[in-house]
Amino acid sequence: MHFPLYLVGASLAAATATLANKTSACPPFPSSMVAFSADFKQPLPPLLRPEFKTSFVQHKWDQYLSHITAGYISNAPAERLVRADQAIDGEISTSTFNYANVTKEGFVDNTLTTYSGNSTKPDVWRGYVNSNFPLFAADILVTSEAVFGGLVQRPFVHGLVASWQIMYQGAIPVTVYVSNCNVMVGYEYFSPDLRTRVITNYFNTEVGGA
Ligand SMILES: *[C@@H]1O[C@H](CO)[C@@H](O)[C@H](O)[C@H]1NC(C)=O
Ligand SMILES: *[C@@H]1O[C@H](CO)[C@@H](O)[C@H](O)[C@H]1NC(C)=O
Repeated sequence: MHFPLYLVGASLAAATATLANKTSACPPFPSSMVAFSADFKQPLPPLLRPEFKTSFVQHKWDQYLSHITAGYISNAPAERLVRADQAIDGEISTSTFNYANVTKEGFVDNTLTTYSGNSTKPDVWRGYVNSNFPLFAADILVTSEAVFGGLVQRPFVHGLVASWQIMYQGAIPVTVYVSNCNVMVGYEYFSPDLRTRVITNYFNTEVGGA
């Protein structure tokens, strides 16, 4: 029975290589990005590595609700799609956001497939929504003229990450957290309309074709 052992060895080697790629090769943040440093100079926003899949937890609240969800996101700007698989209040759902189909108010074409309770069939709903899952394109920080908000600590992330502040769709203040490898590790926003606050933290992020 050499076959299974061989497979385990190969996948361990692959995992080690992926980890090495993540931790090496990216230069650390320069001292010019350290707040209160004499060297400080407002940095230019970076291009992101936008094709990724990641585990996430998200807490969203306003004056009427408080939702905590966990799941998996695929961010695929090449296809203008975000897919979020979530577990929320004992239900499992898959939500696809099609950013090729957005109203001028910023509502996004959403297909929501829910597997609830004891149902043997999924419920499928489609319509325009105010998405909690923005599509992050490679140049979003550049085209939004993001303002650097300092190096900060985030849950699930080892070491410091850069925070960048933008006005998403010109209307919603979003803070995007980015590692020194220009990989997103999460985002936060508030929407003044319903006074909604959302915190999304990523972990186990895999960069590459989504
Ligand atoms: C699922 O089935 C169990 C056992 O029949 C029942 O007790 C429970 O209330 C059902 N749950 C829902 C959400 O319908
Ligand atoms: C755009 O999205 C709306 C809302 O989900 C949907 O009804 C419509 O069919 C979509 N149009 C296209 C061309 O996909």
